[in-house]
Amino acid sequence: MILVNENYAKLQSSYLFADIAKRVKAYQAAHPDQTVIRLGIGDVTEPLPPACVAAMHKAVDEMAAAATFRGYGPEQGYDFLREAIAANDYRARGAAVDADEIFVSDGAKCDTANIQELFGAKITVAVPDPVYPVYVDTNVMAGRTGACRSGRYGRLVYLPCTAENGYVPALPEQPVDLIYLCFPNNPTGATATHAQLSAWVQYARANKALILFDAAYEAFIRNPEIPHSIYEIEGAREVAIEFRSFSKTAGFTGTRCAFTVVPKTCVAYTRAGDTVSLHALWNRRHTTKFNGVSYPVQRAAEAVYSAEGRQQTRALSDFYLANAKIIRDTMADLGFALTGGENGPYIWIQTGTRDSWKFFDRLLERAQVVVTPGSGFGRCGEGYIRISAFNSRVRVEEAMTRIRRVL
Ligand code: MLT
Repeated sequence: MILVNENYAKLQSSYLFADIAKRVKAYQAAHPDQTVIRLGIGDVTEPLPPACVAAMHKAVDEMAAAATFRGYGPEQGYDFLREAIAANDYRARGAAVDADEIFVSDGAKCDTANIQELFGAKITVAVPDPVYPVYVDTNVMAGRTGACRSGRYGRLVYLPCTAENGYVPALPEQPVDLIYLCFPNNPTGATATHAQLSAWVQYARANKALILFDAAYEAFIRNPEIPHSIYEIEGAREVAIEFRSFSKTAGFTGTRCAFTVVPKTCVAYTRAGDTVSLHALWNRRHTTKFNGVSYPVQRAAEAVYSAEGRQQTRALSDFYLANAKIIRDTMADLGFALTGGENGPYIWIQTGTRDSWKFFDRLLERAQVVVTPGSGFGRCGEGYIRISAFNSRVRVEEAMTRIRRVL
């Protein structure tokens, strides 16, 4: 008899963004004459930077000629891209990361979802609340969380991120083994200082724990004091894995390219207390389950680091941050307390009502604007909404006009 993985039955409803898409589709079907503006899921709208497009075209031409055609590439990514990442994203910021510690992939969502396969079933996992749902759901699927009661899984340790702590979680009061951190944060837009990240690295070192650091939104950091990488923190190479993505940085949500950094010094332990290289494990996993990102896409990603590419991608994040300012200014003017949008593309807004989904419905039905209900990210998100700055200027301005009218 074929048995199912019963852990799936512990998952709460469907994936948050699938849930939202379903509600929006139903609304649109019932109101075909209304134009809905989407500021929910963080999906980019602006075209790829010209430098990336040119590199991709050139690579496609290479694939069209027998002399330059390429079949399977290295699972970990081509050296040209790994070298460019190590030099520009890390060494240029004083963070010691070698090219062969970088694993190119098709998305940070997939990597943050898949990485938990490397760890034992009985470990204690700590997640921020609110949290990007992928961290939680994948641990539920793997059987690490226990059942969900009143919106919380019994075996997860939740790290509240609230207005009181500036949306940066305090260290846990009980020992934990695996810690998910995301800065600039999705969904709150909060950032962590050098001192705050140092405290987490010290915690991980003292407790033989591991930090999974999601830095998918680092390109939006404008405050020069804020670290872009966990490896800017002394001691992090032994206790942290970092995830990055070209999705939001360079408009690659539909093109797919990201990477994970697993330092060779980063370890986990056997039950007997022996150390195991996580670089070796991830390499084993990656070579077994992944066949690499396509050559034209990796060439396009490499172009992000060219002189024109850097200038064009900076212009892209500047553009979305200018959208974020419009959203911040409007919502603040309407009297809402908010955070984010200055070093990240998300604005986290206290709605003043208890029910995030009700507020979501109100904005959808009365303003035809889609946002994300904060409670979809966890209990601490109840009473908040997240507005994404990813859309055209015209649509963001129109959305703000409509929201002004209905609130
Ligand atoms: C979000 O809206 O939180 C993101 O777009 C989700 C993702 O990047 O997977």
